[in-house]
Amino acid sequence: MGIEVVVEGLTKSFGKQSIWRDVSLTLPAGEVSVMLGPSGTGKTVFLKSLIGLLKPEQGRVLINGVDMVNSPERDIYETRKLFGLMFQDGALFGSMSLFDNIAFPLREHTRKKESEIRRIVMERIEVVGLLGAEGKLPGEISGGMRKRAGLARALVLDPQIILCDEPDSGLDPVRTAYISQLLIDLNAQLDATMLIVTHNLDIAATVPDNMGMLFLRELVTFGPREVLLTSDEPVVSQFLGGRREGPIGMSEEKDAATLAAEADAASASVPAAPRVIVPQLEPSPGLPPRQAVARRRKRVMGMIDTLPPAARSAIRDTYAKSAEAATLPMPAAGSGA
Ligand SMILES: Nc1ncnc2c1ncn2[C@@H]1O[C@H](COP(=O)(O)OP(=O)(O)OP(=O)(O)O)[C@@H](O)[C@H]1O
Ligand SMILES: [Mg+2]
Repeated sequence: MGIEVVVEGLTKSFGKQSIWRDVSLTLPAGEVSVMLGPSGTGKTVFLKSLIGLLKPEQGRVLINGVDMVNSPERDIYETRKLFGLMFQDGALFGSMSLFDNIAFPLREHTRKKESEIRRIVMERIEVVGLLGAEGKLPGEISGGMRKRAGLARALVLDPQIILCDEPDSGLDPVRTAYISQLLIDLNAQLDATMLIVTHNLDIAATVPDNMGMLFLRELVTFGPREVLLTSDEPVVSQFLGGRREGPIGMSEEKDAATLAAEADAASASVPAAPRVIVPQLEPSPGLPPRQAVARRRKRVMGMIDTLPPAARSAIRDTYAKSAEAATLPMPAAGSGA
C-alpha cells in the first residue's frame, strides 16, 4: 500500500528569489493528488523537494519517519527508492534504446539478473502501451511515446509513491485522455500514493482524489477535489475557467490598476456560470477497484464539517451517486448543514 507523505512548513528560495513559503499538506496514502499552478510557481521545485533532490531552507517532508529535508543523506537515499519520478521533459538518455532507458534504475539500484530485468521492463513497456518500440532511440519516437517511456521508467522499481511532472505537456487531447486513464489504472493496480503536477484542466477534473494549487509563493489550498472544484477564490476560478480576467497575469501577478479595472468591468457583466463537477475516472474494466476509494471516503466524511458549504454538498452528492450506482445504503450524512 502507498505511503503517506507529510509536508510541514516547507519554505524554498534560490538566493534572493523566494519560490514558496510555509507549504503544509498531506498526501494521503494510496490516493491520487494533483497540484495545479501557473508556470513558474515552483511546482517542479516542490516535487524535487519531496524526494530530497532540492533542499528547502525550512520545514520537513516526512515519509516513514524519514525527513527528506534534514535526515542524514544515507536515510534520504534509501527512502528515495520508494519513489518513482516521471520528469517533465522525459529526461531519457538520448543514446540509449527505450529498453535500456527503462532498465536503467534496475541496473543502477538492484542486483537483479538480466533475465529478471528483461521481464520487469517488458511488463512495464506493455502497461504504458509501448510494446514493439523498445528498441527505438528517444529521438526516433513521438513526444507522447517519450512521456510514456518516462512513466514506464518511473515504475520499474515498484514505487509506493509516484510523482508525475506534467504527464500531459505536449500531448494532444486524445493522448491526454489516455494518460488520465493510465494514471487511474496504475493507482488501481499499485495502490501507490500519487502526486501529479499539471496545467491540464481535464486531468484536474477527472483524475485526482485531492487537489491543491500553488500561486504567489503560497499554497492557495489543498484538500478533497470538491473543495478546489467549487472554490470561489478568484485565482482558483480563473485558473479552472482558463480566463484572462483575474489575478493571474502573463508574468504571474497583475498590477493593482489592471485588477481594479477588471473588477469594474466584471461587476457590469454577467457572473460566470457555476462549475459542474464531472465524475472521477474509474479503473478500466477488468482491473481491481481502487483501494483508495474506501479509505478516502472515510477520511473525507470524517472532515466534512470543516469544509466550505459548496464542497460539502458536492461531496455528499458524489457519494450519494456512487451509493446509488452500487445500490448500497447511503453513508451517514454526518452532522451539520
Ligand atoms: N536549480 C535552480 N536554481 C535556481 N533557480 C531555480 C532552480 N530551479 C528552479 N528555479 C526557479 O524556480 C522557479 C520555479 O521553477 P519551477 O520549474 O519549479 O516552476 P514550475 O511551476 O514547475 O513551472 P512550469 O509549469 O513552467 O514547469 C523559477 O523561477 C525557476 O527559474
Ligand atoms: Mg515545472
